[in-house]
Amino acid sequence: MTQETTYLDRNEYNYGPAPEVAEVLKNFDPNKLCFYTRIYDEGKKSIFSDFLSSLYQIPEKQIILGYGGEDILKQVVHCFLAGKEKQKTLLIPKFSWWYYKSIADEVEGRSVLYPLYEDGNTFKYDFKALQETIEREKPEMVLIASPNNPTGNALPAEELDKTLSFIGKDTVVVIDEAYASFANKDTSYIKPLLEKFPNVLIVRTLSKFYGLPGLRLGFAFMGTALSRFLNYSTKYLGYNRLSEELGIAVLKATDYYQNVADQMAQDREMYIRELRPLAGFKVYDSNANFMLVKYPIEWKEKLQTALKAKGYLIKFMNEPDINTHMRITLGTHAQNCMVIETIKEVVGA
Ligand SMILES: Cc1ncc(COP(=O)(O)O)c(C=O)c1O
Repeated sequence: MTQETTYLDRNEYNYGPAPEVAEVLKNFDPNKLCFYTRIYDEGKKSIFSDFLSSLYQIPEKQIILGYGGEDILKQVVHCFLAGKEKQKTLLIPKFSWWYYKSIADEVEGRSVLYPLYEDGNTFKYDFKALQETIEREKPEMVLIASPNNPTGNALPAEELDKTLSFIGKDTVVVIDEAYASFANKDTSYIKPLLEKFPNVLIVRTLSKFYGLPGLRLGFAFMGTALSRFLNYSTKYLGYNRLSEELGIAVLKATDYYQNVADQMAQDREMYIRELRPLAGFKVYDSNANFMLVKYPIEWKEKLQTALKAKGYLIKFMNEPDINTHMRITLGTHAQNCMVIETIKEVVGA
């Protein structure tokens, strides 16, 4: 019998969907797929953007939909960073998702890294260095990720406000909040933030907290100064009609997902308790569905082999200055126990 693989390498979801997902699939009327949506006649994009609008109390016109957060990030970078007249600049956090640089490269944009620093068991944004980098590089776009992948640190709403205050209003600021629901249940800051900073785009997804990476559904809240992006991204014939129903169903099933997130929070504590005491290990605090763990590099091969033997895949980082680290997606409690046990066996703890 071939062993099943447990995927803890791409921050996916090992808990299964809320029961409402199966309900939508069972009850969905396939005839809907024979027609484009008619909601466009009402001047709206989708029943999903309409739903988001009432949930977040943000006008529908300021809501962008995409094929995952990935798609929205690509589109916004292509929209504002492309251009033949001059090469444009995107600032990205030094340790962050590799994808940001690759989308800037696609349009021959220049990406410049701004530093994050370590403070105890967490990474932090370096506001002074960010401000200096902005003054020096005069970027067209600044990307902030909160919580950031792979470092797991989040920016509290007050700090976000402070950061946005020193960024010029003609700079586009993209805040990647793919993991935000793990850090903060309260979303009431979004509306006033967009009103105060109309140059901001906040990107979210159903792939992480709502556990549907295979659905490919992301959404974003756009400040009014970015309306060019609305035209750029809107699909005039509408969106996937099955996805939009699934999207609404999972956003209504927040209790199910919050319950899973609470279990994850307990397991984050377990990781800290179990692995922090190991010699040469550092377990970073996390506000997301993954743990960043620094380990003695001499254990790398043995750790890889031992986890693979049990069918477990985790991400061993290779990026500069963060290459003696592993990023482990939180799985079910049993899976998390298995990873911890395997690591402890390897290092003889
Ligand atoms: C930081 C970050 N942003 C955005 C995404 C995009 O996810 P999706 O395209 O599935 O919404 C990911 C996926 O891993 C991510 O790590």
